[in-house]
Amino acid sequence: MKESFSLDALLRHNIKKLVPYSSARDEFKGEASVLLDANENAFGSPYSKNYNRYPDPLQQQLKTKLHQIKGVPPENIFLGNGSDEAIDILFRAFCEPGQDNVILVPPTYGMYEVSANINNVAYRKVNLTADYQLDLDGIAAAIDVNTKLIFLCSPNNPTGNSIRRQDIETILVNFDGIVVVDEAYINYAKQPSFSKDLPEFPNLVVLQTLSKAWGLAALRLGMAFASQDIIAIFNKIKPPYNINQATQEIVLEALDRVDVVNEWIKETVTEREKLATSLRELPQVEHITPSDANFILVRLEQPRAFYTFLVERGIIVRDRSKVELCEGCLRLTIGTPEENKALLHAIHTFYNHTS
Ligand SMILES: Cc1ncc(COP(=O)(O)O)c(C=O)c1O
Repeated sequence: MKESFSLDALLRHNIKKLVPYSSARDEFKGEASVLLDANENAFGSPYSKNYNRYPDPLQQQLKTKLHQIKGVPPENIFLGNGSDEAIDILFRAFCEPGQDNVILVPPTYGMYEVSANINNVAYRKVNLTADYQLDLDGIAAAIDVNTKLIFLCSPNNPTGNSIRRQDIETILVNFDGIVVVDEAYINYAKQPSFSKDLPEFPNLVVLQTLSKAWGLAALRLGMAFASQDIIAIFNKIKPPYNINQATQEIVLEALDRVDVVNEWIKETVTEREKLATSLRELPQVEHITPSDANFILVRLEQPRAFYTFLVERGIIVRDRSKVELCEGCLRLTIGTPEENKALLHAIHTFYNHTS
């Protein structure tokens, strides 16, 4: 439980004063038959479905459905054009460019740093430990009065492991800024989501996405779960219609298929363990980080040459071999059983020929 926390003290001055855009549909609520308020094309759309009207700016139907699945009340949910939009809004809400700073714990997801750079916000890097856990002392030492956000990713990309829950709680309790826990890969993890802990931590923002386990990356739908006060800030800053009507409709339908998604998750986890077991048998594979995600980070001999060998065969993996603390590693996304077989076959071919 966090005892004292002041959101007001964290907010940028211009955001505190901001009068948000008020759209036509914000100002009118209720039933109407003649809509002449938003300069839309009243005749329709040159498409089989009518998309001539602006969508619901707050995506109420979608949030109600997500509430049923995630257990997070609609008023604690922000929906963004991918979770990348939520990351960007966090910087714009809380970080004064050229003055404030954030803490990143590499190796981790690259967008936190890119978003910081776009927003001209300084970042302090506190590397994960050798076993890819938080360096709590290092983080404590890096925090100063201008530190507004700490980004934690669990399960972490690109390492795949979960961050120890106790350590995340320590930061939530002791840091007076916003702690962002990015759970893009939570559906594959054994540990529960931090979304259940929102009532205890007013400084917690949990990010999730439909781009991974839900198989809807092309539709761009990311979620931020947080206190009502933080969600109100997100809503104030976001573009009025950030989730388009087609996405809202398709996602609403797709969310009925939890059973299919759960099957895929099970199969992905089984395939992940199968791939890891097969890789462990190869003497050229030096290390496999235990994964709670839909990918594994593997340290192996000649990573770059093997990467190029795969590309030549039309198999693309992620080369992380030059990333600090991931030296010599490739990140392998778990595919279908056929795709994983093709990858394993290529691995055997390459290493049998080169050793
Ligand atoms: C840890 C992490 N967070 C966020 C994202 C972005 O997700 P979205 O597609 O919702 O923008 C990714 C995508 O790879 C990711 O790995």
